[in-house]
Amino acid sequence: MSALLDPYNSNVAKLLLKGINSVQEGISMIDEDGYIRYINKAACKILGIKPEDILNQKAELFAPNPLLIQILNKQEPIIDIEYFMDFNGKTIHLINSGYPIFNEDKAIVGAIDIFRGIQRSRKLANNIAGMAAVFTFDQIVGKSIELNNSIRLAKIYSKNNENILLMGESGTGKDLFAQSIHNHSSRRAQPFIALNCANFPNELIDTELFGYDEGAFTGALKGGKPGKFEAANGGTLFLDEVSEIPIHLQAKLLRVIETKTINRLGNNKPIFVDVKIIAATNRNLENFVDEGCFRKDLYFRLKVFFLEIPPLRERGQDVILLAEYFVKKLENKITEPIKHIEKEAIELLLKYSWPGNVRELEHLIARSLVICENNSISAMDLHNSGLKIQIKEIAPTKVNLSRRYQKKQILDALSQTKGNKKLAAEMLGISRPTLYKILAEEDLPDPHH
Ligand SMILES: Nc1ncnc2c1ncn2[C@@H]1O[C@H](COP(=O)(O)OP(=O)(O)OP(=O)(O)O)[C@@H](O)[C@H]1O
Ligand SMILES: [Mg+2]
Repeated sequence: MSALLDPYNSNVAKLLLKGINSVQEGISMIDEDGYIRYINKAACKILGIKPEDILNQKAELFAPNPLLIQILNKQEPIIDIEYFMDFNGKTIHLINSGYPIFNEDKAIVGAIDIFRGIQRSRKLANNIAGMAAVFTFDQIVGKSIELNNSIRLAKIYSKNNENILLMGESGTGKDLFAQSIHNHSSRRAQPFIALNCANFPNELIDTELFGYDEGAFTGALKGGKPGKFEAANGGTLFLDEVSEIPIHLQAKLLRVIETKTINRLGNNKPIFVDVKIIAATNRNLENFVDEGCFRKDLYFRLKVFFLEIPPLRERGQDVILLAEYFVKKLENKITEPIKHIEKEAIELLLKYSWPGNVRELEHLIARSLVICENNSISAMDLHNSGLKIQIKEIAPTKVNLSRRYQKKQILDALSQTKGNKKLAAEMLGISRPTLYKILAEEDLPDPHH
């Protein structure tokens, strides 16, 4: 046997150890009793520790319910999971795989895990796939009945081959749903191709969708170029902002859906395509149909299954879950202790109407994380990050009954801003003199008593 294949040869053992220390993936191993027996250089770097801090100690001392212990108990591998490791008081966001180690007699003798920071994995996913479907339903944060109804329907639709129309305001998660539907369907191993119809001038959408043949026009690539339909063959084509498809192409699209064949520009040879279309829009497509900007027959072909994604303001407590999720997600970029959101700030989040939905919330949290102090996000931080609360009931001309309500609102606002009147007035969308005036008013008798 060649020396290099003999694992008992000490040179090979040395090479193995050196090799494991040369990679950028974190690698650690525990023995059958749960003691950490090996950790490579990259793992120490990712976790921010020295080998001597951790070696020969119980894995549970460093993280609650560690993946390696789960593997030991289950005796089964866990592969490529997204993993928030609460390690030594920090949360580290990883992609992790763990494997049980068995001896010749098939008895478990330990476990090994291999992990990398999430950023690297994201980059990789984007590089390979460009716009592959990475989301799954279990990553859609929210417990509200409204959201869960949409998820329930989406799961049913994804088991079916018919086209789906997603409707929802901007930032509600249409992309997220389209990808999750694809990943839940039998087409998941096939391509997921997205085209944002608003990003292309009219004349280019044609060739983007259907491709062209060599010589179709001056400047056409040699050998031609397949369109998105061909690229998506066997899989899913996500047509985002579908309302922007020009009317003459709508007829062509309808024909493709009906005949399941396309023609590249400059070639009459039909090409068979098996594509499930998920179309999305944040416009009221029915109005477009009424106004004659969108073909009725195409509309019905696309909305065989119809899914409405609820706006954030109708999802109740989901706002809090999402805000906390974004704090955690965004915090992982820098290894600092997790920040939290103060009670007054949460009340503000619940009151706000979220015209930009989940995306607006994510951006707000991102800005607040940068400016907040003492690791906690206050109502003031949200305000300074651009959150404007307009409470419509406040109008200086309202009659006495609502005055009492206004005064209560002002007192609430003041407690949120810790007595800062200028801020409270801004939050309520009233001038400071108005605020003073209402505050100065005598309490009126309650008409109900
Ligand atoms: N329920 C959710 N859980 C976690 N993240 C979410 C959720 N909903 C939306 N997001 C995040 O919010 C952002 C906006 O979502 P997405 O891009 O899917 O919205 P959209 O409906 O496609 O908006 P637009 O109409 O503007 O294209 C994304 O970063 C997405 O990952
Ligand atoms: Mg989108």
